[in-house]
Amino acid sequence: MESKWDVLSALGAITAAGLLLTGTWGVARAVYVYLLPQVRRGNAWLRAQGAWAVVTGATSGIGKAYAHELARRGLDIVLISRSLSKLEQEAREIERLHGRSTRIIQADFTGGLEIYGAIEAGLRGLEIGVLVNNVGMAYGGRGGVFRKLLDLEDLGQSVSDIINCNAMSVAQMVCIVLPQMVSRLAAEEASHFGPYTQPLRPLCDSSRRRCVKSTFLRTVSPMLVSTNMTHNLPTGLLVKDADEFAREALDTLGLSSHVSGCLGHAVQSFLLPFGLLRWFLHSRQGVSLLSAGSKSNLPSLKPQST
Ligand SMILES: NC(=O)c1ccc[n+]([C@@H]2O[C@H](COP(=O)([O-])OP(=O)(O)OC[C@H]3O[C@@H](n4cnc5c(N)ncnc54)[C@H](OP(=O)(O)O)[C@@H]3O)[C@@H](O)[C@H]2O)c1
Repeated sequence: MESKWDVLSALGAITAAGLLLTGTWGVARAVYVYLLPQVRRGNAWLRAQGAWAVVTGATSGIGKAYAHELARRGLDIVLISRSLSKLEQEAREIERLHGRSTRIIQADFTGGLEIYGAIEAGLRGLEIGVLVNNVGMAYGGRGGVFRKLLDLEDLGQSVSDIINCNAMSVAQMVCIVLPQMVSRLAAEEASHFGPYTQPLRPLCDSSRRRCVKSTFLRTVSPMLVSTNMTHNLPTGLLVKDADEFAREALDTLGLSSHVSGCLGHAVQSFLLPFGLLRWFLHSRQGVSLLSAGSKSNLPSLKPQST
């Protein structure tokens, strides 16, 4: 009997130590990534990556906020979205407010491979330091994110649009932008380390490794941000204003390969696995409640881009 309790005590101690370590790591990481950003890197570092930033879905919400914040930090901006009039208006606003150059590319990311030739041509010759793969769509309006897939009118087309817009766009934009980023940074590294490279080896292996290390790929996973997609939910403890979100998210650039974007969302995503919310959302009752809410809020079940 006693040995059974010994085993349980040991398991309890290991679990408590694990939780303590996880908590300490989470707090230390939050302080490093979210609370001390300006101490380490300023706007000069951002501009040194390249003169231009490319933002997809740049005419409203988070993408628009990123475009303005990057321009405020001294980068020229390429805006890509569907609506030409919105693109022209945002480009004018960025030039007026931040005095930076802009370029616009009209594209509908629900399209397939055929749309990327024009995007590539529009970006040719630009020194691109930052690519924000922001564009995304949800099906349905308020609560539509929780809609059952089989409730959609044209399921095949909806699935294709969503995959093209939310996933294929990321892969294709990276394919267009990354090669010029890497070769430019490699060339800069090579010229920097030139005297130390061997004759007849213009780009030595180590400089290539260094340049890949200095090209940051990272994922931002926000919780709720007040935008058209979230029907401009009131901002508060849980819901972030888009401009504030973009500012905080850009401060964390280069510090981690996966961030929530801002401290408030980092705390939410840290607590989520321990909470009842995740359990509830995945329970039968949670799914029924969400889909009932979606239906009562929506006149149409047709997929819509935001
Ligand atoms: N808001 C949130 O709480 C939240 C949370 C997590 C993740 N996200 C993600 O953050 C990203 C931005 O969301 P948001 O809330 O800022 O959305 P939003 O306010 O609805 O803005 C979407 C932007 O994308 C453009 N766009 C939409 N469909 C397009 C298409 N098919 N082709 C080209 N451009 C298109 C829109 O411009 P046009 O209409 O002019 O094309 C607009 O500029 C999305 O990927 C979303 O999934 C948002």
